[in-house]
Amino acid sequence: MVKISASILNSDFSRLAEEIRRAESAGVDFLHLDIMDGHFVPNLTVGPQVVESLRPHTRLPFEVHLMITDPAQYAPAFIKAGSDLILFHLEVVARPEKLLAEIQASGARAGLVVNPETPAEPVLPFIHLVDQVLVMTVRPGFGGQKFIEASLEKVAVLDGERRRRGLKFAIEVDGGVNPETGRRCAAAGVDILVAGTYLFKAPDFRAAVESLRF
Ligand code: DX5
Ligand code: ZN
Repeated sequence: MVKISASILNSDFSRLAEEIRRAESAGVDFLHLDIMDGHFVPNLTVGPQVVESLRPHTRLPFEVHLMITDPAQYAPAFIKAGSDLILFHLEVVARPEKLLAEIQASGARAGLVVNPETPAEPVLPFIHLVDQVLVMTVRPGFGGQKFIEASLEKVAVLDGERRRRGLKFAIEVDGGVNPETGRRCAAAGVDILVAGTYLFKAPDFRAAVESLRF
């Protein structure tokens, strides 16, 4: 069964602690924290101080999605703030193997993220090193966008290579996830669905989580 990671991007930022407790009591598996720097994406969110202040409010693991141009500079601060998994974009890092190793040596898990325009092939040289691969199913920057169908082929390529090489990394998708798109992701080989708008705007959070359990 797929796991669910709740993205707080479209939650009520004036009540973040309550929002994450709402996600936890509804049964999500992870919290997905979107970090944006106004350079890699045309939007800004929060830094390590907010991650640290949320940490005592939930037992859920924090996966921190760095949409920033210099993840190597800021990853240590996010790990210190209590991140369990650091996800950084392949598009901005010259030597991903080095940053993956640094993150893992600090005691966190590490994952690579690819934008919709980035094919699966540049990820393949690193899949034996990652704990997770996050396939963006929207252009990063904003919640509430439409799912990009072509991403499913990328998931299938990654899943195929994972099987062929007997690897154990998790495949996750992020953006535009709802029961209809989530079902197709699960069928293509996805292990973890990130969902923001669909969960936080749902009339019944728990029912919304259950509707994504494929
Ligand atoms: C987009 C973020 C996503 C986004 C998902 O840049 O990485 O995590 O918030 O939100 P929905 O589920 O609204 O597409
Ligand atoms: Zn994200």
